[in-house]
Amino acid sequence: MERILKGDKILLGTCYYPEHWERGLWKEDLWRMKKNGIVAIRVAEFAWNKFEPREGQYSFDFFDDFLNAAEETDMSVIFCTPTATPPAWLTHRYPEVLNADINGTLLRHGERRHYNYNSPVYRRFTAIITEKIAEHYGKHPNIIGWQIDNELNCETSEFYSDSDTGAFREFLKKKYQTLENLNAAWGTVFWNQTYTAWDEVFVPRKTASNSHNPHLVLDFYRFISESARSFVKLQSDILRKHIKSGDFITTNGVFANLDSHHMTAESLDFITYDSYPDFAYLLNADPVNSGDLNDRKWSRNLSEVRSISKIFGIMEQQSGSPGWNTRMEAPQPKPGQMTLWTMQSIAHGADYVSYFRWRTCTMGTEIYWHGILDYSNRDNRRLAELASIHQKSQSLSGIAGSVYEAAFGVLKDYDNVWDSRLDGWHRRLDEVSEAGIFQAAQLTHTPMDYVYLDDTARPEVLSKYPVLFYPHAVIMTEKRALLLEEYVRAGGTLVLGCRTAYKDITGKCPMVKLPGLLQRLSGADVVDYTLVSPDDGVITVEWEGTVIDTAVFNDVLEPLGNAQVAGTYTNNYYAGKGALIGNEYGKGRVYYFGSVFTRKTAEIFLKKLGIAEPYYPLIEAPESCEIAIRRKGERRFLFLLNYGKKPAAITFKQEVQDLYTGQSITGSLVLPAYGTGVYRL
Ligand code: GAL
Repeated sequence: MERILKGDKILLGTCYYPEHWERGLWKEDLWRMKKNGIVAIRVAEFAWNKFEPREGQYSFDFFDDFLNAAEETDMSVIFCTPTATPPAWLTHRYPEVLNADINGTLLRHGERRHYNYNSPVYRRFTAIITEKIAEHYGKHPNIIGWQIDNELNCETSEFYSDSDTGAFREFLKKKYQTLENLNAAWGTVFWNQTYTAWDEVFVPRKTASNSHNPHLVLDFYRFISESARSFVKLQSDILRKHIKSGDFITTNGVFANLDSHHMTAESLDFITYDSYPDFAYLLNADPVNSGDLNDRKWSRNLSEVRSISKIFGIMEQQSGSPGWNTRMEAPQPKPGQMTLWTMQSIAHGADYVSYFRWRTCTMGTEIYWHGILDYSNRDNRRLAELASIHQKSQSLSGIAGSVYEAAFGVLKDYDNVWDSRLDGWHRRLDEVSEAGIFQAAQLTHTPMDYVYLDDTARPEVLSKYPVLFYPHAVIMTEKRALLLEEYVRAGGTLVLGCRTAYKDITGKCPMVKLPGLLQRLSGADVVDYTLVSPDDGVITVEWEGTVIDTAVFNDVLEPLGNAQVAGTYTNNYYAGKGALIGNEYGKGRVYYFGSVFTRKTAEIFLKKLGIAEPYYPLIEAPESCEIAIRRKGERRFLFLLNYGKKPAAITFKQEVQDLYTGQSITGSLVLPAYGTGVYRL
């Protein structure tokens, strides 16, 4: 039996569905997995009927038998609660457990994730099935951990059932106490939306042209997140009573309208992620262009994941071509890509990588979602690649428990993430800057972290980064403003983008000079602003001899106090006016840039701020390769990942140890197409 994420090994697993296969295959499958390096499997997340085939009739034989097979083959098991797919008998008899769309139409049986988090009936059934399963299987020696539900908020992250409206009202009563406060927070005087009784308040419903009060919608997203979190907490509290000490609790995936950071802190031991980089090659994907990093973009997602848990697991790692019978077709992973995507996950902090799925399903919606094995069950090249990944992973055990090393951070917070989801102006800015900063970081080999802020964040969270970008913190609070001031005063460099701090926590725009709560810190005064239309062409900025692009939006800036204009617009009616303000503040410095960070602009910031390419003295690698370092104390491990279709020429300027071969190397080497290398520095 192997235990995962104990900081001593990098381990491999797979997702297995005993209910999809003849019992006669179980042991053969488990032995075959072991032979090829799989030490753990995840089971039961969609198998409610195997535990409760009819309301109130419980049966544990099926998974007892399966766990016996796991015991005989010494296979570790991650057991799941089955709440992502309620049984037909349940949804038919109690339709109030179903989720609804915005028109109130119920989402019916036949797919998955069609329940709502707030139905008292569903919560009761959830509590009972979780308790029964945990009581019965909790002490099984082969179980090493638990997954709650499956991919919360995947498929849909919006909830419009009657139970949701009821719970939304309770959420709002707690938050605002009185309708007067609620009306003020939501600005309901606008368009005569004033509420006079709590039962006039609903989750968003269909409106004339599909827009709704934005302050209500922002609270609605917060409410969805709280609903999902409390649903997870309900289950984790029950599991904790029954499971063995040392067994972990997790859930898989990171999805919209869910504060995964707080969910993990309050209910889980760590997060696990489901990584499907082959989505980059979907038939209907955007045409490849130079800024498109394809499968490498999953490093952005993995950076989000490690902002939740520095060391995490991959519960589902792509091992075959994706595709439901209705959507999502992409090629099979090319030889090498399964290894590449595995090493991509490990480079960012995954100490456990579990492949989705052992064998491609022969029935149902996912008949085209390929696993390691095809329907035929014959040995294939993906199984051979798994065995070779296993061989490599064995030489990486020293890396377990080490953490990703970043040269700078990008600040985020859920208020702004959710505001950007509902506010088209905000969203446009975020999309460009998120992609631009990530691409610049990747292509200049400058590793970055995401850092999530809330009002309780401690200064230590920020102070380890010499440079922080907070691209478009449209919503700002006093506490966050003070935290940023403290960071800069102590010597940090903070880079802000346009439209900073013009909204309060309700999403309303106070009557203040911009950038509102950050005016003193930034030394910038936004005297005019405009969206940039295609008719305006590209508006550029001159920054100490360098010309940089702007896009989407321009804030026209004047300096306050000792602040300086560091860059000016070169065209449009505000040519010659301030586009970039630099402000010395305490021991640090703030830059307020009046636009978004395109890839090229972000690259120039990284270079001018002296943080680009920190590994240049050690290694030279082409743009097609990602470089990542994981560190444990003095020990550092370098990952080299070639996403390109062509071999990449690398030069090591210092001697390193190739962990795959154990040999010391220096000088030039060639990494094949989709090749990877891991080196001890
Ligand atoms: C994930 C999900 C799996 C499987 C896979 C392929 O989102 O957790 O159950 O559906 O995608 O579609």
